[in-house]
Amino acid sequence: TTVDLEDSDYQLGEYANFMHKEIREQPEAVRRTLAGRLDERFGTARLGGLNLDPRAMRGIRRVKFIGCGSAYYAGQIGANLVEEWARLPADAEPASELRYRNPVVEEDTLYVAVSQSGETADTLAAVQELCRKGGRVIGAVNSVGSAIARACGSGVFLHAGPEVSVASTKAYTNMVVCFAMLALSLGRVRDLSVSDGARIVEALQSLPDHITAVLSGENTISEVAKEHSNAERMFFVGRVRGWPVAREGAQKLKEISYVHAEAYQAGELKHGPLALIDPAMPSVVVVPDDELLAKNIATIEQIKARGGPVIAVTNAELPEGLADSLIRVPRGEPELDPILFTVPLQLFAYHLARHLGRDIDKPRNLAKSVTVE
Ligand code: AGP
Repeated sequence: TTVDLEDSDYQLGEYANFMHKEIREQPEAVRRTLAGRLDERFGTARLGGLNLDPRAMRGIRRVKFIGCGSAYYAGQIGANLVEEWARLPADAEPASELRYRNPVVEEDTLYVAVSQSGETADTLAAVQELCRKGGRVIGAVNSVGSAIARACGSGVFLHAGPEVSVASTKAYTNMVVCFAMLALSLGRVRDLSVSDGARIVEALQSLPDHITAVLSGENTISEVAKEHSNAERMFFVGRVRGWPVAREGAQKLKEISYVHAEAYQAGELKHGPLALIDPAMPSVVVVPDDELLAKNIATIEQIKARGGPVIAVTNAELPEGLADSLIRVPRGEPELDPILFTVPLQLFAYHLARHLGRDIDKPRNLAKSVTVE
């Protein structure tokens, strides 16, 4: 696929800042990354740049995603999808950690180096170390021709278009979409059935419209953000599929609003963090309508019982009055919920930062591309 970039990618047009523009571009960015890569007939995805034939794909026994910051959180979703669809052990690790360990590098592990800029120093160093040890490393990179793309040699380009805002939004989403395609193709050379594959292909094709539906609720999200804009600290809570979503939600908020945001796995709250809950500590709780719904409702009750305000991000019908504020998400295939649930959290962080008058595209102390160690 070739992507034609326009000058308009670098112009704000009707938008006040690039973060807002890039959030709103997501349906189009997702369409671009899916284009030509889905195979409806065989219910799979074709990522030509991987340079892996079906036999090599079958030989992979483990997948490890490495990246920094949001790229690492995206990798965590990728790892969950690989485990779920391909039934392969998979995990994600910050590249800034891996590079300073002495990692065991196995021949049948596929390492996926994740980076929007392709220039992040820690990720590049981790790639170089893995390659030096004979590891099989592919890139999931947005910037064509970047150092990480070149060091990996093969991989998948994100096709998000240029991302200017320091806070990553459309590139993050496209990372996860690409990992869904990678997990699907790994699954389909293994035990994922053609009908499940076809269901996933259809779900991926529906993503742009579902994201558009999330974006149409922007005014409500802005109001919810305004209601909570006096908070000095917030929890973001999720479990399993919702856990990386909570991490990315907290990351976006702290990055651009400077509100202290911490993400926790829902089940871990009672092991310490519940002590921090009080009326001044709102919790954003990720509540997908899946097999863990009852557990997540119980988590909200635990928070409420300690006087904590709750903002539920959900596609489920929650008991009346359970949450103080609701952010609604359209219903899609549950495995892709992490994508759909992240978009409202981007908008939440964006509007909260806007209500606080922050410099959204250039938050203090941060750089778009971290080329130093
Ligand atoms: C995302 O909002 C952050 N600005 C940051 O965590 C970023 O994802 C990280 O620095 C990695 O950047 P990269 O994707 O360009 O490697």
